[in-house]
Order: sequence, then structure tokens, then C-alpha cells
Amino acid sequence: MSQDLSSLTQDGLAAIAAATDERMLDDARIAYLGKKGSITAASAQMKSLPNEEKPAFGAALNEARNTINHAIDEKKLALQTAADAKSVEGIDLTLPGRQIPVGALHPITQVKDEAIQILRRMGFALADGPEIEDEFHCFDALNTPADHPARNEKDTFYFDSGKLLRTHTSSVQVRNMEKQTPPVKIIAPGSAYRRDEIDATHLSVFTQLEGLFVDKDVTLADLKGTLEYFYKALFGPETETRFRPHFFPFTEPSFEIDIKLVAKGQEPKWIEVAGCGMVDPAVFSAICESRKDETFSPDNITGFAFGMGIDRLAMIKWGIRDIRALIENDTRFLSQFA
Ligand code: PHE
Repeated sequence: MSQDLSSLTQDGLAAIAAATDERMLDDARIAYLGKKGSITAASAQMKSLPNEEKPAFGAALNEARNTINHAIDEKKLALQTAADAKSVEGIDLTLPGRQIPVGALHPITQVKDEAIQILRRMGFALADGPEIEDEFHCFDALNTPADHPARNEKDTFYFDSGKLLRTHTSSVQVRNMEKQTPPVKIIAPGSAYRRDEIDATHLSVFTQLEGLFVDKDVTLADLKGTLEYFYKALFGPETETRFRPHFFPFTEPSFEIDIKLVAKGQEPKWIEVAGCGMVDPAVFSAICESRKDETFSPDNITGFAFGMGIDRLAMIKWGIRDIRALIENDTRFLSQFA
């Protein structure tokens, strides 16, 4: 009897060993241990055995079941391990994982956004206009005479049509005054183009932010207060500002603004950051002529305007020495501002 069992067990182990997948393994389990399996069938012989043989036969049955169960478990594990190994075959698990690059805002965009936020808190609304402009909006309406050097072919990009790439975003201010009524309180961030020789401090395209506030009784004190606050908000409360008399065709009086740079271990240095001034009455007159009404009559209103290069602000903020780094798209440079 137990001889039978042991050959059954041997057959069962052979069937388990021959199984090449889980399905075959399961078939073997059913064939030996299932309800109609051979070992289950053998256990039926128990009934016909004399009592004294029953314990030994019971023990042999248990051992046969255990042996087969154990072999099935081991084989299952072996099959799974083999399947796992196969699924990563040819893949070098020691290679470093694939990097997922995370983007970040360009430093110019970061400073521009910050400048916009500060000015919006002071009540300036965002305004926009075309980059391809006509001479009226870029120059004539801004009291810039035909022989002004900025209008020269050497300084401005002209199209054959006579249109041009705007040299400043002041043209947006003109377009706004043509459409709105005072008070006008806008900022116009955007690209401006000049035929500058490209070097460490000049590009032929740069990002500008200009502002305009027109209302009754706007004064130079408003201009000064607004811009002093702006530079403190941008560069820190200890930031010193100075207004140097200057000339722009569209403002009178006009100023250039310097801020004092205090770098560690260096003499403090004044550096120019913006142009500004009180809107020249001639500009308001040009607007009246264009609108064909007196809404912006210089007799009733005043205003201030300012314009600054965002690229320059970014260079100051991070101590960038060459403006060209800002447009070269070198991620080794750009990732420092992420
Ligand atoms: N438009 C001037 C420039 O591009 C800046 C400026 C704006 C100056 C407004 C005065 C007032 O340089």
C-alpha cells in the first residue's frame, strides 16, 4: 500500500517538475490532490485496511500530500521568478532612471511678472498693442520730429511698407489714449526693437515695460512716489533712487532714474534703470487731433510716463554680466533661475 503511495508521489513530483507554466502546475495538483486525484483516490483504501495498519497508512498519506504540496509551492515560486526575469530580459536595471525635466519661468518673465504685480497693486491696468507699428504711433504722436535720430534707418527696423518694429512700447500709450477717457492708468510690457550693435549690454530686441498715468492734477510728486515705491518693492526697502534731468521728446520735464547698487566688497554704484517724465502737452495735443475731440486737452489734464528695460532689471537682480545669456537658451544658465 505505502509502496503504491510512494510511486504515486514520485509520479506526482515528476509531473510537477515537468510543468512549464502555472496552468500545467495546476493540472498536476488536480491530478494528484484534487477531488478525483490519485492520492485522494488512494485514501479511499483506508476503509478496507485492518485497524492496525490504518495509522501508518494515514501517516504515509499525509506525507505524500505534504511532499506534493511543498513541491507545488516551490515550483510556483520558481515559475514566477523565471517569468519576472523574462519580463525584464534585455533591460539593464543598473542604468540610471530617465530624468523628467521640469520647466521653469525664464528670468525675464520672472522679473516682468513681479514688476507687473507691484504696479497692478498700485492700480495700473495691463495694456497691449502691436509690435509692428506705424510712424504715427511710434514717433509722430510722441512729439518726435522727423529728423530725430531714433527715426533713422540705422536705429529702427523699417519694413518696405513704411511700417516699423516698435522701438518702445510708448506706442501702446498712444493707442490707449485714442480709445479711453481719463483717468488712464496703464502699463504696457512687451518687446521693443532697435538696430543696436549686439554686445554684453545691448540686443536688437529687448523687453520693456512702460507706464502711463493721466488724470486731473497728476504731478511730478506722484511720478516720484510711484517709482520710488516700485524700486523698493522690487529690490528691497533700502533701495535708493535718484532722478537725473534728461531729455525725451514726449515728456517735459524728463528724467533718467538711477538706483544705487550696493554689492558686497564694492563701492556703491549708481546704475540707470528707466526714463520718465511728465507727459509733454504736445503729446496730448496730438491725441486730441487723432481723436478729433478735446478729451485729452492739455488744458484739463496732466500725466506722467515711464519706461524701463526688464532685461536690465533681471541683470541687476541676479548679477548677470552679459545680456546675451538671456536669449541663448542655454539650460545650464537658465536652470539657475528655476
Ligand atoms: N520710451 C522711452 C525709451 O524707450 C522711455 C520713456 C518712457 C521715457 C516714458 C520717458 C517716459 O527709452
